[in-house]
Amino acid sequence: MALVTLKQILEEATKGGYGVGGFNVNNMEQVKGIMEAAQETKSPVILQTSRGARKYAGDNFLFGLMKTAIDVYKDIPIVIHQDHGSVEACKTAVDLGYSSVMIDGSLKEDGKTPAEFEENVRVTKEIVEYAHNKGVSVEAELGCIGGIEDGAGMGDRDVNDYLTDPMQAVEFVEKTGVDALAVAVGTSHGAYKFTKKPDHNMLAMDRIVEIHRKIPGIPLVMHGSSSVPQELQDLVNRYGGNIKQTWGVPIDEIKMGIHNGVRKINVDTDTRLAMTGAIRKYFSEHPEEFDPRYYLGKGKDLIKEVVKSRMIDFGQAGHAGDFV
Ligand code: G3H
Ligand code: 13P
Ligand code: ZN
Repeated sequence: MALVTLKQILEEATKGGYGVGGFNVNNMEQVKGIMEAAQETKSPVILQTSRGARKYAGDNFLFGLMKTAIDVYKDIPIVIHQDHGSVEACKTAVDLGYSSVMIDGSLKEDGKTPAEFEENVRVTKEIVEYAHNKGVSVEAELGCIGGIEDGAGMGDRDVNDYLTDPMQAVEFVEKTGVDALAVAVGTSHGAYKFTKKPDHNMLAMDRIVEIHRKIPGIPLVMHGSSSVPQELQDLVNRYGGNIKQTWGVPIDEIKMGIHNGVRKINVDTDTRLAMTGAIRKYFSEHPEEFDPRYYLGKGKDLIKEVVKSRMIDFGQAGHAGDFV
């Protein structure tokens, strides 16, 4: 179909009361796995690249892959989104032709220390001005995404200092004019989110409800939302991997988040696990093979299955046609 903006896709999701996965890509197999899942489920898609992904694949290669997806999958609306951008990464993404950027002003330059509120507002405003001038959407982050359970990455400070403050969210949105807001509600990036099976108290659902009540017009974004399914951990480990037992964000909690105003759900770890597990299995079962197309193909196929399942659970399946 077309390149669409994050604003467009999330406006439709808001009308329809569903969520849309933001899936990270670094290579052709990930792009194809996600796009095949979208085609089969008739879903709108958000393809997103981190700074690391751009460094790995090269800006033009990676953008070219995503642009090709637009030409090949003509019935699927696609957002090309910069994930966790610096000021520079966001500006170059806009210049390359991305339709959406996330300016991550929640941390200082070192990528670890929480930035002051005013500094976050300043860099976010700068990117909103730059991007909106060219019709590009902007997602920003307020609070620091970590883990409620163990305060992962939060030093000695109280975990509540890092969750998104609903009052600050109102001020932040008014001052910056962002199109979507990533909130810190207890999720964290990577495979190791929770050390025991999460219950209903692991995510700060009350914050989501409160933030959505205060800024109902702003679609909320949940990062660190891989579910880290047991079967993918088992698959990797059965074939020589060494993933320590861990738990991700339960699908039911994500559905609850969507019910309460979350519209974009970021998933990277689950597709990484899928690709790794499928390739490990293939290597183990076919030690004589050395054609990359065989094992990478298996990786792509399992990515497709995982993404299809997320698209159905998030509710975006069947909504590709909302954009005509
Ligand atoms: O936000 C984190 C995403 O999973 C991207 O990770 O920076 O290793 O590409 P990355
Ligand atoms: P996961 O590590 O849970 O997949 O989160 C990915 C993410 O938030 C990318 O921005
Ligand atoms: Zn993230």
